Amino acid sequence: MSADLFSGEDPIQTGRETLAPGAVILRGRAIATEAQLLEDIARISAAAPFRNMTTPGGYKMSVAMTNCGGAGWVTDAQGYRYARNDPLGGAPWPAMPASFLTLAKAAAAEAGFPGFAPDGCLINRYEPGAKLSLHQDKDEQDLGHPIVSVSLGLPAVFQFGGLTRAAPVHRYPLLHGDVVVWGGPMRLAYHGILALKPGEHPRVGQIRLNLTFRHAL
Ligand code: SIN
Ligand code: FE2
Repeated sequence: MSADLFSGEDPIQTGRETLAPGAVILRGRAIATEAQLLEDIARISAAAPFRNMTTPGGYKMSVAMTNCGGAGWVTDAQGYRYARNDPLGGAPWPAMPASFLTLAKAAAAEAGFPGFAPDGCLINRYEPGAKLSLHQDKDEQDLGHPIVSVSLGLPAVFQFGGLTRAAPVHRYPLLHGDVVVWGGPMRLAYHGILALKPGEHPRVGQIRLNLTFRHAL
């Protein structure tokens, strides 16, 4: 048993939960660099603000989003796609910070995907009640690259299913600092986030943040 459990700090977690071949939760891997990650998110969102985008079907998403890196995920009446520039203002998305890249590459390698080189990071901000219904990440050109997804702030319930919408869906808690990686045979797995419960995280506040890294273009 670790002394961290009694120190009042987040224990540095090293757990690893396999969801399926090619899909794993790496517990606590973002905790060591959380301060830098949060500072970088604040800087990025000052330049490219969080916004609630509209689906092609005309629904406003409850999750607010922004991006960094060369490939930013966007949605509007024209569809889901990657854009090199922020449609709000037209400037390129902010560059991907070193803290993001280092974490994403290390997590991918630990999960069995060495050489991951993300060109985009979607940053999701959940307020209480916000959710992301079951979907596949399939707007990327080459599905040979994994997805790396980092959780910060309030806990959430992650849904992870199979390759069809009808496949059984399992629920996993995602806590501050957890990193999920899926690729290979599970690259097109359906996944989502249940409606966020209200709460207060000591360093992130009343929200959940998620970084989703992709090699998209
Ligand atoms: C996503 O599927 O883009 C985000 C998942 C998450 O917020 O954990
Ligand atoms: Fe997704």
